[in-house]
Amino acid sequence: MASADFGHQTLLADVAKLLGEAAQVLEQTWGQGAQVRHKGPADLVTDTDLAVQRFLIPRLRALLPGSVVLAEEEGQVPTATDRPCWVVDPVDGTSNLVHGFRYVAISVALSDAQGPILGGVHDVFAGRLYTAWRAHGAWVDGTPMHGSSVTSLSDALVACGTPYDKSTPAAVFAPIAQVWQACHDLRVPGAAALELAQLAEGRLDAFFEADLQPWDFAAGCLLVTESGGQVTDWAGRGRTLQRGTIVAANRRLHRQLLDILTPTEP
Ligand code: IPD
Ligand code: CA
Ligand code: CA
Repeated sequence: MASADFGHQTLLADVAKLLGEAAQVLEQTWGQGAQVRHKGPADLVTDTDLAVQRFLIPRLRALLPGSVVLAEEEGQVPTATDRPCWVVDPVDGTSNLVHGFRYVAISVALSDAQGPILGGVHDVFAGRLYTAWRAHGAWVDGTPMHGSSVTSLSDALVACGTPYDKSTPAAVFAPIAQVWQACHDLRVPGAAALELAQLAEGRLDAFFEADLQPWDFAAGCLLVTESGGQVTDWAGRGRTLQRGTIVAANRRLHRQLLDILTPTEP
């Protein structure tokens, strides 16, 4: 994919505006009693997920003619891979939404050949908007973010995620247990894009998960790297849009987490 200049500053402002409007769609449709269905035994989708995605996709495409979309619901997979690609999670934290746990995000990134170039994560119920632009910075509600300065894992508040597939509990929880023993304390909040945003803001010190999809992390990873953090897979390799393991933190904590996670990489 070419890395042309698409007028990114304007695009980021347009994405920020769309995310605010999408949050209204989320709250309205959920408030009207959206249906909930199972994609898998623990993996849910609601009418709200679909409504937010259907709201966003045509508007994102219109912002950048020729762009394609990779989105979680309704099989939105790009046919052309050499085009700028919007990576969309219409509701990150669907289980939280269904249970009334008000920790839910909408995540949008624009990706080119070098990975995410623009990203926005809207914390719907807190009304906070996180944005990032590659090589230019990361912001929460327009204020620059610089991430956590905690340098010892024993002082760190670490978040992780658990997969929907419950068939291998020992393999899932062995690395989680090791990190829990080594850190100050552990959280499993349930919306990966938002964990990455909180990490970029310095409200969390580190995040890891074993099996994420591109729409879970594309925007959040850009927030973390643009706020001074590091994101790799559990083997320490640079993050790509492939699905897989993820570890994110400032450089010092990242190394300490890799020491634990690399030997356990699934
Ligand atoms: C999920 C959330 C959760 C993570 C899962 C994701 P969804 O996304 O980000 O925190 O642990 O792996 O699938 O299904 O709510 O969009
Ligand atoms: Ca989702
Ligand atoms: Ca998600």
